[in-house]
Amino acid sequence: MCLFRNNAHCRRIERSASVAIMKPLQPLSTVFLLIVSIVTFASSALHEKEKHISNGLSIAPLALTAEDYASSIQRSDDDDGGGRHSLTDAAAMNLAERSPRFEDASGHANVTVQLGDTAFLNCKVLDLQDKTQVSWVRRHEQELHLLTVGMQTYSTDSRFSLHFQHPNDWRLQIKFARPRDEGIYECQVSIHPPRIYTVRLIVAVPSVEMVDDHGRVIEEKIYKTGSTIELKCVVSKVPGPTANIMWRHGLRILNYDTSRGGISVKTDLLPYGAVSRLYIANASQRDAGNYTCNISESSWTTVVVHILNGEHPAAMQHGQSSSSERRPLVISMLVVVMASWFFMWKCSFSR
Ligand SMILES: *[C@@H]1O[C@H](CO)[C@@H](O)[C@H](O)[C@H]1NC(C)=O
Ligand SMILES: *[C@@H]1O[C@H](CO)[C@@H](O)[C@H](O)[C@H]1NC(C)=O
Ligand SMILES: *[C@@H]1O[C@H](CO)[C@@H](O)[C@H](O)[C@H]1NC(C)=O
Ligand SMILES: *[C@@H]1O[C@H](CO)[C@@H](O)[C@H](O)[C@H]1NC(C)=O
Repeated sequence: MCLFRNNAHCRRIERSASVAIMKPLQPLSTVFLLIVSIVTFASSALHEKEKHISNGLSIAPLALTAEDYASSIQRSDDDDGGGRHSLTDAAAMNLAERSPRFEDASGHANVTVQLGDTAFLNCKVLDLQDKTQVSWVRRHEQELHLLTVGMQTYSTDSRFSLHFQHPNDWRLQIKFARPRDEGIYECQVSIHPPRIYTVRLIVAVPSVEMVDDHGRVIEEKIYKTGSTIELKCVVSKVPGPTANIMWRHGLRILNYDTSRGGISVKTDLLPYGAVSRLYIANASQRDAGNYTCNISESSWTTVVVHILNGEHPAAMQHGQSSSSERRPLVISMLVVVMASWFFMWKCSFSR
């Protein structure tokens, strides 16, 4: 396996490998390809036929409306033969009533809700008859969970309820949306066969992260006294630009803090979030501790700032990445040193 596909060496290996496989198999593989394509063609033709049959059975009758029926009656009346083209009484009864259907003919929708907000799942049903019920069920890992039937709520989770909107919207309401609410919900109309409207609920969880200059998430930062603390908080996965980023040091809110001086906050808006930077000049021991940035009570992150006295680097970041990055450099230096020793030894030997 070649990990670096752009590597010239890798490309060469791959090419030679494929050539080696293809060459001796050429006549055989042609025959094989021919068989495969014949089988594929035959099965797709069969499948196409099956699709036609199933469409004819299940979907076409649903598409018939009362107008269709009326015009078909009209046509059969015009025929002097009478009975030849007219439908049976039972079928006529079925078609004369408009069958219930969803206003959104696509049959499915996607709904996105922010973490903690209320989700509304609409299900607008046209021509619902008196005795037919509309239910909401949740499809979860191959299981169906009944949530509502008619106006009745069956879910044990009190966050779920039916909020009917006049005239025809059997709207399911989910309060305080959580990540585990995410998934497929079905609005079903209890006729035979049942009509199903599918709603995919997506719960958007905002991301709030403290990152370093390279965009890596950090949990700690170390500064020496007198240097400038610089923290970067990145907010994403929110519905739009967000300016309400709050910075705190412990419990003290920093955004409009004037008591210390030398504090500034700069926030740049992004299409679905923001980047906020906190600067604290002339750091001292009093500035050590936890710094938090948040956009809501549930979306926040913290970084621990350490202030060191003495001759330490201005800003060091704690993390495994820095030491592992240095390792290849050390190894390559070692290789160079050993190589030069070897050549020196070889030169002196040949002389
Ligand atoms: C819902 O989302 C899925 C996957 O992202 C997409 O394939 C589908 O077209 C969407 N449906 C609607 C009605 O927007
Ligand atoms: C930095 O803070 C120290 C005390 O912590 C103070 O003595 C010094 O004057 C400050 N320097 C500047 C440039 O503000
Ligand atoms: C600071 O944050 C760390 C980790 O987030 C936490 O363990 C610690 O209790 C916090 N300290 C204070 C004083 O809030
Ligand atoms: C989080 O930030 C919001 C404003 O962005 C603020 O109203 C709220 O009090 C903060 N919550 C906490 C727990 O700090």
